[in-house]
Amino acid sequence: MAKVLAAKLSELAPGSMKKVVVEGMDDIVVANVGGKIYAMRGVCNHQGGPLSEGELNGNVITCPWHGAQWDVTTGKLVEFPLPLDDERKYKATVEGGDVFIEV
Ligand code: FES
Repeated sequence: MAKVLAAKLSELAPGSMKKVVVEGMDDIVVANVGGKIYAMRGVCNHQGGPLSEGELNGNVITCPWHGAQWDVTTGKLVEFPLPLDDERKYKATVEGGDVFIEV
C-alpha cells in the first residue's frame, strides 16, 4: 500500500472531481461529495470511459460515453442496462490542504 498525493484540497471544491494518474495503474477519480473526499478507479467498467470527464451529481458519477452511473462513495453501479462489476475503491484522506489516496 502506498500513499500518494492526489490533489490539493483547494482544487477539489464540493461537487467537483479530478483525474489522478499513478504510474503503472489505471486512472483514478477523486471526488468531493459534500465536503468529503472519495476515490475510485476512474476507468468505466463498461468500455473504459474516462469517469473524471463525466458528470458528478451528489455521489453519482455518470460516464461520458454511454451513461453508466457509479456511486463514487462505494464503487457500485447505480444505473445501467447491463450488470457491471464494481469499480475499485481507494481510501482517501485529507491532511492539511492535501488529498492523499492509498493505492
Ligand atoms: S464506457 Fe462507461 S458507460 Fe460505456
